[in-house]
Amino acid sequence: INDTLSYRPSYHFTTDSNWINDPNGLVFANGKYHLFAQYNPFGDKWGHMSWAHATSDDLFNWQQQPLAIPEIKNADGTTTMIFSGSAVVDSFNTSGFGKDGIAPLVAVYTSHIDSAGKGLRQHQSIAYSTDQGKTWQQYENNPVLDIHLSDFRDPKVFWYAPEKKWVMAAVKPLEYKVQFYTSKNLKQWTLLSEFGNIGNTDKIWECPDLFPLTIEGTNDKKWILSLSGGHPQKSFLAVQYFIGNFDGKTFTADKLSYPLYIDYGKDFYAGITFNNIPSNDGRSIMIGWANCWSYANDIPTRGFRGAYTVPRVLTLKNTTDGLRLFQQPVSEITTYEKEIFSEPGITLENTARNLAHVQGTSLDVSFDLETSGTAGISVLKSGNEETVISFDAANNTLSLDRTRSGDTSFSNQFAGIEKINIPAGKNKISLRILVDKSIVEVFADGGLFAITDIVFPLKNEGGIAFFANNSKATFSNVQVKEIKKTIH
Ligand code: FRU
Repeated sequence: INDTLSYRPSYHFTTDSNWINDPNGLVFANGKYHLFAQYNPFGDKWGHMSWAHATSDDLFNWQQQPLAIPEIKNADGTTTMIFSGSAVVDSFNTSGFGKDGIAPLVAVYTSHIDSAGKGLRQHQSIAYSTDQGKTWQQYENNPVLDIHLSDFRDPKVFWYAPEKKWVMAAVKPLEYKVQFYTSKNLKQWTLLSEFGNIGNTDKIWECPDLFPLTIEGTNDKKWILSLSGGHPQKSFLAVQYFIGNFDGKTFTADKLSYPLYIDYGKDFYAGITFNNIPSNDGRSIMIGWANCWSYANDIPTRGFRGAYTVPRVLTLKNTTDGLRLFQQPVSEITTYEKEIFSEPGITLENTARNLAHVQGTSLDVSFDLETSGTAGISVLKSGNEETVISFDAANNTLSLDRTRSGDTSFSNQFAGIEKINIPAGKNKISLRILVDKSIVEVFADGGLFAITDIVFPLKNEGGIAFFANNSKATFSNVQVKEIKKTIH
């Protein structure tokens, strides 16, 4: 396939072929990162949902493994699709699935019962592997949690060490509720509590996650509850989060002005964090699906459909508005980077400057921008085709404009501008922009704001231009790094 129009990113995860949506079962086990994916083994549109599998030593170089958990054809003519969920390392063999001293990997997923395209029931089921995720056995007494609903899904299970028990967060999507359950053996689950009906309830709730973070510079711990649903621009989708406490039973949100969003782009959905990251590492690492249900089945990629965001480290910091999540690409990315341009300062006034000999379609671009007007950068630029990131200091906004980004014809929902309100009175902002063929991820203000959008440039020149409109702007500490999957 002609590389230009395949739109396959180079350092973002994609499967060799076919469709993917949500990342599932992110877990570190025995020295390797495992990633599973909502996957259609038979085509490049949603369907036959199964779990694909890939492993990596460094979160970037992924090796796709054989299909992990396929959909199940039932005797009564229905099909059990393997919907989203999580995976744990059952180190104490609480499930009894381990053998010969090998701790099993246990996947907890939503068993979605389908009859001729109609969803009848969703319950939670488990499967296990004693060979590092290569082969999986379904538990004979599935499902393990059934509350007789057609919509009840996306279990995220983790080990709650203080009480030596498993905790599951799952959603009742249509009721905007997260339910928390507990289990001693991953097989019997009891309800602990519910949380919901706050924040953004414009769209159904999906893919919850609950994980602790230490507030930077302190020893205080908070719990983050994240879940997928509505977007600040009504008709789209995003991941929102709540900050609070979890006592092993109940999640209580701090009083902040919700909704808060992990990413303000249109293509960050179903993000979850890795389980079982060793304590001497201690990072909370999230991966999201870089796509949006409004057009996901129609994007013009070839040979594959769907990609994941770069793995991101989440941290919690105090800001003038209160506690907020910050995010940055995991530092492993630097292994693949080579600086191709750097300049301490570029000053522009009411003009644009193309970086004539500096270009690329897989880049990490960073700089600090100071202006009292509107200024920014165009990436994936070829003539008039460009994706524009701009900071408007007068109106306190940061935006990503993909209206002229290339092919936008496949969906009338696609072309558009993301705009974030940022704290007033700022005339300085740091920007880090990851570009990879058809994905643009913006990390602004040290990672306080993120915008992820996919784009489909028709030309592949990968030009870069800085601009300042109606004002003077200074771009300092400018760095452009090329990212190649072969180690530089
Ligand atoms: C989120 C989602 C999940 C579900 C899965 C099905 O994108 O709708 O709620 O488990 O996708 O593929």
